[in-house]
Amino acid sequence: MVSYCGSFSNVLRLRLWSLLAAVLVSVVFQSSLAAQTYSGHELEEKVEGYLKQMTLREKLEYIGGYKDFYIRPVPRLGLPAVKMSDGPIGVRNYGMSTQYPACIMLAATWNAELANQYGTGIGRDCRGRGVHILLGPGVNIYRNPLCGRNFEYTGEDPVLASQIAVNVIEGIQSQGVLATVKHFIANNQDYRRFDSGSNIDERTLREIYMPAFKAAVQKASVGCVMCAYNLLNGDWCSANRWLNVDILKNEWGFDGILMSDWGAVHEIVGVANGGLDIEMPSGHFLNPDNLEIMVRSGKVTEATIDDKVRRLLRTVIRPGFLTQQQKLDYPMNDPKCAAIALDVAREGVVLLKNDSKTLPLDAADVKKIVVMGPFGGFVPEGGGSSRVEPFGEISTVDGIKDIIGSGTSLSYYPVLGRSVADGISKSSVYSHVAKDGTVKPGLLAEYYSNTRLEGDPVLVRSEDILNVASQRGLVDAVGLDQGVSVRWSGTITPDKTGEYTLALCSDDGMRVWLDGEVILDAWGDHAAQSDFIRSKLIAGKSYKLKVEYYQNGGDAVAQFGWGVQKSSLDDAVAAAADADAVIVCVGFGADSEGEGSDHSFGLPNGQDELIKAASAANKNTVVVVHSGGNVDMQEWISDVPAILQGWYPGQAGGQAIAEILFGKVNPSGKLPQTYEKSWEDNPTYNSYALKDGYSVDYTEGIFVGYRGFEKNKIKPQFAFGHGLSYTTFKYGKPNAIVAITDGKPHVMVTFSLKNTGKMAGSEVPQVYLSWKDASMAQPLKALKGFAKVNLKPGESRDVTVVLDSDALSSYDVNAGKWVIDGKKFEVLVGSASDDIRGKAGFKL
Ligand code: BGC
Repeated sequence: MVSYCGSFSNVLRLRLWSLLAAVLVSVVFQSSLAAQTYSGHELEEKVEGYLKQMTLREKLEYIGGYKDFYIRPVPRLGLPAVKMSDGPIGVRNYGMSTQYPACIMLAATWNAELANQYGTGIGRDCRGRGVHILLGPGVNIYRNPLCGRNFEYTGEDPVLASQIAVNVIEGIQSQGVLATVKHFIANNQDYRRFDSGSNIDERTLREIYMPAFKAAVQKASVGCVMCAYNLLNGDWCSANRWLNVDILKNEWGFDGILMSDWGAVHEIVGVANGGLDIEMPSGHFLNPDNLEIMVRSGKVTEATIDDKVRRLLRTVIRPGFLTQQQKLDYPMNDPKCAAIALDVAREGVVLLKNDSKTLPLDAADVKKIVVMGPFGGFVPEGGGSSRVEPFGEISTVDGIKDIIGSGTSLSYYPVLGRSVADGISKSSVYSHVAKDGTVKPGLLAEYYSNTRLEGDPVLVRSEDILNVASQRGLVDAVGLDQGVSVRWSGTITPDKTGEYTLALCSDDGMRVWLDGEVILDAWGDHAAQSDFIRSKLIAGKSYKLKVEYYQNGGDAVAQFGWGVQKSSLDDAVAAAADADAVIVCVGFGADSEGEGSDHSFGLPNGQDELIKAASAANKNTVVVVHSGGNVDMQEWISDVPAILQGWYPGQAGGQAIAEILFGKVNPSGKLPQTYEKSWEDNPTYNSYALKDGYSVDYTEGIFVGYRGFEKNKIKPQFAFGHGLSYTTFKYGKPNAIVAITDGKPHVMVTFSLKNTGKMAGSEVPQVYLSWKDASMAQPLKALKGFAKVNLKPGESRDVTVVLDSDALSSYDVNAGKWVIDGKKFEVLVGSASDDIRGKAGFKL
């Protein structure tokens, strides 16, 4: 039996499981991780030894990043370069790698052991590429459905987020790689992420936004923390002394490095004194030229610099990076890691709705199946710095093909592209005048090795279409994936007069001129952003086209197309009419959900119309939603009998989805966030927009997610913790027994759980705490522990979840400490936050 409690520090059971997991992991991953690691006194002595030998200038150089993703080497002292890679859903920076499901999908598994495997797999991928530090996991709380990076994080609840974070970190670090928990703190939107401020009261910070970071430090001994871009209560996170020094380092005892997010530093003295240890990607502000004078004048003390250098040295010395051969001879396309990615996808898909047992489909009965929508034919992912290019992928169509027999017909109608630009770019036709004066087909492409289209191009060639869908396109062209700009020029000549669509999608900036006039302008640093215009073009007339693009970090997307937008909707609907099942795969994807901006609540690009057309044609329409969180379903939810939340499911996502559609896998994912009916229902609706253009007051306080929905008495579409199964579970009456250990109360919650259906399956019993005589404002209930239990049909087991005193505590701002608020409590045990199956009271 696996059980976990809310803050789980004293739970022997959990520790035993971690130990067992560690043993299993080391059996599964037999690897030679031999390294001279250091701890305690020996470590500090070694650190001091290096520190003493460094000149002030060397120290000041050391606290600035090197070559974008390194801690710099100091060859004179034998200190190696320490290599980082973006995460958190795979190793991004060094070519193709395992593409795991997004972290939100991992959270939806509610499976701490699997989270440990996920981290172990990523750690192993790091070792295969010689990476010392992985820039993940991300644990910012899901405040609302619009945040562009929700998919990189772990949901709305601090207990669930902490459990997942701790296990991922332990997994990564078990492989001789350091993890980085990010973004510290309150980076809960990507709209104006570079300059927005989050204003949050202390109790809310401590109870909602900090626990996953604190657990990462105190339970998982995370090696690194990355600061957030935003301000917290008026100070940049990169320079917030209270946050970084008083809380993170002094109160929580963090002795690793606090690195800046890329470009999150805006000043010298405030940052140097504010607890930041290394400025990334380079020492733009924190460098010898700026700092030597500050040290000499006493504005920054040498002791402050020494503290940063000590932490950097600890980071290098403690895990053994001084001597460890970081790159191991692991397969780059590692089957062990691929298996983990598939398992997470299988357990993370959430069956949101399943009227009249529409699912699972019976492969023997289904003779004709139609898949529609942009994401049926490939696996979508979120955009930005977490985007990993896999060695291969299994789409939902591929997954279904592998399951159905030869007697079943399967047809696929994408109908819509990933974005309008992607949809039409591949059939766009151009011509250009070559240097020798002849007219050639395609566009003239000029590539520059800077972001400003300056100097001589490093590559000039003709290209038939304009479609760079990932960094690989740039690397293939110029050997660079960052700091590149491109100009495409040529003419377009329509053969018919009529209305044409001209569309772009870019990450970062792109602008388009037609006959010398700017018609589309997305110039600026951002994640993938789409735009289009419609314009009347005359047959036979040649229009001069110029498109400029630059790539400045994170992901790379450059797509432009023009043409008459054709729709294959009629064909798809006709095929759907007599199908036994229709699967519509919709959502956001890298072109509309990602780092650098927030997104709409509604599905993009005409997808609602697609679902409505499919469900009007065929009652057996199943919708698969790919997104980092909730989307507006109101236009079609009552017309479709079944909905799967497919998140961004990683390289084998389509296999997992197909297995669930056909009942080869029983769904066991549960929502790590509340799904509202309308965006206005969300507790942060009135505290999302920036009040003065720069800051957000988190006026909902601790009432984020289900805490807020319950307080405001708003019934969500799907509650936190919701997720259906193909089997049924019966809960026995819970018992709550209080025990005192070391003067602190613990509550042992036990109950029986039985699989009363016909199929083996896993249930996630959730244990919530409810306050009966509180003096502080408390939520109606708060998650404090959960388990993931696999049962065969008819099988029954006793489940134990232990709540320790931390789980029972609230932060009293007046007293400046954690207290147990009241004496009378109740534990509520259920299958979802709105499906409580039993209660038990207890007194302290
Ligand atoms: C992101 C970080 C990322 C870094 C390096 C930043 O823009 O916010 O999460 O690790 O870039 O790519």
